[in-house]
Amino acid sequence: LDLFVRLDRNSGISLHAQLEDGLRGAIRDGRLRRAVELPSTRALAAELGVARGVVVEGYAQLRAEGYLEVSPRGKTRVADVAQPGPSAPAATAGGGPPLRYDFHPGLPDLDGFPRARWARSLRNAVKDLPGAELGYGDLRGAAVLREALATHLGRARGAVAEADRILITQGFSEGLALACQALRARGARRIAVEDPSLPPLRAIVADAGLEPVPVPVDGEGMRVEGIERIAADAALLTPAHQFPLGAALAPARRAALVEWARDSGAYLIEDDYDAEYRYDRDPVGALQGLAPERVVYGGSASKTLAPALRLGWLLLPEELYAAVLERKAFAGPSPVLPQLALAEWLLSGEFHRHLRRMRLRYRRRRDAIAAALRTRLGDPEIEGIAAGLHVVARLPERIDGAALALAAHERGVGIHPLGWHRVEQAPGESALVLGYAGLGEREIEKGIDLLAELIRA
Ligand SMILES: Cc1ncc(COP(=O)(O)O)c(C=O)c1O
Repeated sequence: LDLFVRLDRNSGISLHAQLEDGLRGAIRDGRLRRAVELPSTRALAAELGVARGVVVEGYAQLRAEGYLEVSPRGKTRVADVAQPGPSAPAATAGGGPPLRYDFHPGLPDLDGFPRARWARSLRNAVKDLPGAELGYGDLRGAAVLREALATHLGRARGAVAEADRILITQGFSEGLALACQALRARGARRIAVEDPSLPPLRAIVADAGLEPVPVPVDGEGMRVEGIERIAADAALLTPAHQFPLGAALAPARRAALVEWARDSGAYLIEDDYDAEYRYDRDPVGALQGLAPERVVYGGSASKTLAPALRLGWLLLPEELYAAVLERKAFAGPSPVLPQLALAEWLLSGEFHRHLRRMRLRYRRRRDAIAAALRTRLGDPEIEGIAAGLHVVARLPERIDGAALALAAHERGVGIHPLGWHRVEQAPGESALVLGYAGLGEREIEKGIDLLAELIRA
């Protein structure tokens, strides 16, 4: 049994006290589960390089405290103490009955993933790959993908992109974590975040040691007037398509943010998560194109292909690149083979053909949800309809969005109340964030029918 206990001989704390602390902590936080047998005092003493008496004393103390007990086989084992259960995400991920109609706003059409074409790209990538390239790979990401992305981001997003400024990550989430860690290491403390925004992204920011400061959002994106007063070192935002309300960041606000960033030395972190999908509005270029030296641009294949690929990219200002790459060294390189497949998609034009196909499909679904909301749910006010993969429907105030979401879940309908995304709750607000990408037109109608039934009930 490998027991990971760290002893520091220079700490001035006795070895048996350190051993007790280490074991107590491991039992409390569940790393050592109930009924696990510990090594004999002799074996553990040898492993740790300490006198056997140190371990005997440590075990005796923890037995006295109720953390350890002696098993019927005469071994020392972890007693029946309170331990944390599985973490909340683990308990909910995939838990519960499957949803029949899942209006999850974060997912593309997973059943529509082009399996055969993707598998062929992967097979080709493996077949032709020199053995040497099956090592850890370039920490920055495969050169061929970084080159292909630089061209794509320049052409499709108006970004100022060079392969040397691109870092391939495992989704936008990892890119955000790395950027925040690097900013924190350079002394950043506070970061402006949109309110509402995606809660897990705010959690990533906080986990990196930055304080997320909520800034309200309206029909023109983040309300940036007076941003200098909150003394933030950075701002995280979704300029092309605000998540979840759907606005494009207005040109005057873009200019104001860039001016603020240049004047104060702050960075803008641009989450360009679903910019590829727009239906009846002009393309909105990347903020990065306005100020490449102040913007950390992040993209992802999660909406264009599938979250399971865990493929994302950062396009970084020169002065941040080394600091972010240093953090990536701790996180580990991204898997190489999906990168090669994506590079082939970009270079062969398959990516654009795929987007064209998906855009048509999503537009039909978007029209279907708009019609279903109009005819079956009392024609609520709808926001964010022009782009992306979800809409926000505002319901009459008397409907409790959170209660409706719970009731709907029991009937197999997955919906997210807007309030889940808010830091500051809006009094009296009753609104739903409804993703439509993963449901066919008939399913959308049936799901909205069920919602209407629940509301009537
Ligand atoms: C607002 C927002 N940003 C980013 C992402 C993508 O995250 P990732 O690339 O880590 O899957 C999503 C996916 O749902 C999102 O909704």
